[in-house]
Amino acid sequence: MSQHLTEYQNIIDSIRRIFEAKENEFIPLHAPNFIGNEKKYLNECIDSTFVSSVGPFVDRAEKDLCDYTGSKFAIACSNGTSALHIALKLCNVEQGDLVITQPFSFIATVNAISYCGAIPVFVDIDENTLALSPKKLKTFLETECTIENKTCVHKATGKKIKACVPMHTFGFCAEIDKLNSICTEYHIDLVEDAAESLGSFYKGIHSGNFGKFGTISFNGNKTITSGGGGVILCQDEDLAKKAKHLTTQAKVPHAWEFFHDEIGYNYRMPNINAALLCAQLEQIDNFIEQKRNLASQYLSLFAKFPEIQFLTEPNDQHSNYWLCSVLFPNKLERDAFLKLANAQKTMCRPGWELLFTLPMFENNCVMSDCDVSINIQSRLVNIPSSPYFARI
Ligand SMILES: Cc1ncc(COP(=O)(O)O)c(C=O)c1O
Repeated sequence: MSQHLTEYQNIIDSIRRIFEAKENEFIPLHAPNFIGNEKKYLNECIDSTFVSSVGPFVDRAEKDLCDYTGSKFAIACSNGTSALHIALKLCNVEQGDLVITQPFSFIATVNAISYCGAIPVFVDIDENTLALSPKKLKTFLETECTIENKTCVHKATGKKIKACVPMHTFGFCAEIDKLNSICTEYHIDLVEDAAESLGSFYKGIHSGNFGKFGTISFNGNKTITSGGGGVILCQDEDLAKKAKHLTTQAKVPHAWEFFHDEIGYNYRMPNINAALLCAQLEQIDNFIEQKRNLASQYLSLFAKFPEIQFLTEPNDQHSNYWLCSVLFPNKLERDAFLKLANAQKTMCRPGWELLFTLPMFENNCVMSDCDVSINIQSRLVNIPSSPYFARI
């Protein structure tokens, strides 16, 4: 039994005050805002009859995303998971290969690895960024792997390590420049799972622009949403063309003929989703400003409770604060808070179960020391993080 329930009640009351919640009003973890041109663009889209995977909003969304992120190319996809799947395919990840990722991530990261027939290698996270640790990655590669003919090989299994997928957790960026140089040294392709980090910049460069590919999600719970949607960022024209080809059923462009030159995927973002995305992108600076204001209110609030640590953006980055997080001293205290908050319609949730504990991976992965992930997972709570004015 926690001895701190009075303090936790205080925190919950303060969160509800920040959101100006009425009695019994539900505060979601993250709700979308449709306060711009969303309805206008959706109407235009419907009036034009172009609601599927061809239409002007898809092209415009890709251009707007390049402008916003500074990426040379952007390929709009049906969701963040499909974007990741195609990125890994274009890194030649095949049946029986290994792909490094972090155990503390949403299931989609590792599902995309499995769609390619590859097996995940779990390397620990860093306690400041909550993303893949460069130090642990280096140790794993130095001690467990070797380089043969410009390919990284895992000594114990003899399998090739084709790619590494760090994830920018809750909008905090990994130390992505360090990860990039380690991967380059070991001939491993870097794919950034930037699903949660639209609007997060590392040393002034947008997340997703460091690796061979970066992928972002526009699911309804993200900083901005297209309903469902995602994007692949890349800096190489050839790769961008290949990505677009694979996401559009590998159809060879022609005005009326149907020729497909390989097995492709129906992964293109529909125009109706792109219409929503264009309207949302117009407001992203405003949303992020609101979210960062919320983070500073939380910082002052949690300063009064020294046992609970509010996580602030690590050095060298500007975070979107997608989901604000706090660390409790232990699992017992975390669970006591979760129970109290959720009973009072204040949505808070723990971090994801570690991926190597899930039934489909527990005996089908390569493990390394993941002490930080285990510790963080048992203590972390995400607290309501919608832009300040988002009340439903
Ligand atoms: C870390 C991470 N990777 C991938 C995804 C997949 O994105 P989507 O839901 O758009 O498929 C998400 C979010 O949903 C995510 O949080």
